[in-house]
Amino acid sequence: MTARFELGGLAGGMPRRGTVAAYRCATCATEVTIEAVHPFRCPAATLGDSHHVLHPVVVGPDPKPIEDPNPFVSYGRSLAWWAFARSHGMSEDDCIALTREVADGFHVTPGGPHDEVSLRVGAQVWVKDETGNVGGSHKARHLVGILLHLRAAEAVGLAPGPRPPLAIASCGNAAIAAATLAQRAGWPLQVFVPDTVSDSVAALLDGLGAQVNRCPRSPDLPPGDPAVLAFRAAVQAGAIPFSVQGPENGLCLDGGRTLGWEIAEAVEAPARVLVQVGGGALAACVGWGLGTAYRLDTVQTAGGAPLARAWARAGGMATQDLGAHWGELMTPWEDPHSLADGILDDETYDWQADVGVMRASGGRPIVVAEQDVVAAYEMTVEVGARVSPTGSAGLAALVAEARFGTARADEPVVVLFSGVQR
Ligand SMILES: Cc1ncc(COP(=O)(O)O)c(C=O)c1O
Ligand SMILES: [Zn+2]
Repeated sequence: MTARFELGGLAGGMPRRGTVAAYRCATCATEVTIEAVHPFRCPAATLGDSHHVLHPVVVGPDPKPIEDPNPFVSYGRSLAWWAFARSHGMSEDDCIALTREVADGFHVTPGGPHDEVSLRVGAQVWVKDETGNVGGSHKARHLVGILLHLRAAEAVGLAPGPRPPLAIASCGNAAIAAATLAQRAGWPLQVFVPDTVSDSVAALLDGLGAQVNRCPRSPDLPPGDPAVLAFRAAVQAGAIPFSVQGPENGLCLDGGRTLGWEIAEAVEAPARVLVQVGGGALAACVGWGLGTAYRLDTVQTAGGAPLARAWARAGGMATQDLGAHWGELMTPWEDPHSLADGILDDETYDWQADVGVMRASGGRPIVVAEQDVVAAYEMTVEVGARVSPTGSAGLAALVAEARFGTARADEPVVVLFSGVQR
C-alpha cells in the first residue's frame, strides 16, 4: 500500500512531490476523488461558507520528472490536474501537449546567491526571482493549474456547453496573471478590484481584455474585503472561481507547488525560506513543495498581520482542528495598510496550511515594521532589482534582523522576489 500524506499537517517523511490521489478538506476532512470535475470547493461547505478548503492528498513515491525546460511539463506527473486527466483516459502525450499549449512560457525562474544583498543584511541571501514569470509574478503558477483542469475537463467531454466566465478578486499581480492567461485561452474574465487600484493596473487589465469591476469599501457591507465579497457573488451567479485563494478554489494550491520544487532542486537543505504572506496560498505551496527540511518563516507587515495573530491565538491547537475554530482564530484585520499593498488581505485565507508548514518545518510568523518594508524596497532599487514593495517584503525580515543585530550568516536564507515593479 502506498502511504497517504495530508499536506496540511505535513506528516513526517512526506514526499516532496509524489502524485495527487484525492483532495481532502482541511476543515471537515471530507474527501473528494481525483476523478471529480471542477473540485473547487469542499462539497460540505454550504453556500456562503468560505471556511472550508480542499487540499491535495499526496502519495509517494516521487514520479520521475519529464525532461523539459517547462516546470509544468517536467513536474506534470505530480500535479492534480494531470492525475484528473489521466483518470479520465488522457494519455501522457495528451497531457504534455495540453501543457505546452496552456502553460506556454513557463520556465524555471532564475535563482542564486545575491552578493550585494547578502553584504547589506549580513546573511547568505539566495534570491528566487519570479518577476520574469508569466504575468510578472509567481501568481500565474497558481492559476495555470486551474486552467489546465478546466481544459482537460473539456477535452474529455465532461464540461460541455458554453464556457462560464472566469472571475478573480485581486488588486494587482494575481489579476494581471489571470488576465494574461485568460486572454491567451480566449476565456472571458471578470476582475474585482478595490477602488484603490492604480489607474495603470486598471488600464493594463483592460488592455488584456478583462472586465474590471471596482469595489469600494462601505460601512453597509459585511466585514472583509469588498472585492472578495463581489467576487463570491459572481461565483454564486455561475462564474468559475479563477482564484489564488484556496477556500475559493483549492486547485490553485496545485501548480504553486512547482515553485517549492524548483527551490528544492537548487538550494540544498537545511536552509531557511522567507515567504511574504497575503492570502497565504504562496507560503502553503512553497512549504508543501519544499518539504520539512527547509525552515519556512512567513512574513507579514505590522499594518496587516492576521496570520501571526491567528498563530498566537491558536497556541498548541492541533492543525486539523484549526478550521473548526476559524471564526475565533482567523478574523479580518481592521484597516490594513502598508507600502507592501499586495499582501494586505484582510484575512489569510490559507492560514491552516501556512500554520501547518511553519509548524512542521520549525518556522514561525514574522511581523515586520513598516520602516523595514520601506528599507527592503529601497535596497532592491539600489541593487537594480525591479521588484515591487510587496515582492520584496520577505527581504524586510532580514533588514529587520540586521537592524536588531540578530542576522545569522551561517545558513542560506531564500527570499522570493515577485511582482515586477511597473
Ligand atoms: C508579489 C507578491 N508576493 C507575495 C504575495 C503573497 O501571496 P499570497 O497572497 O498567496 O500569500 C503576493 C500576493 O498576494 C504578491 O503579489
Ligand atoms: Zn469541508
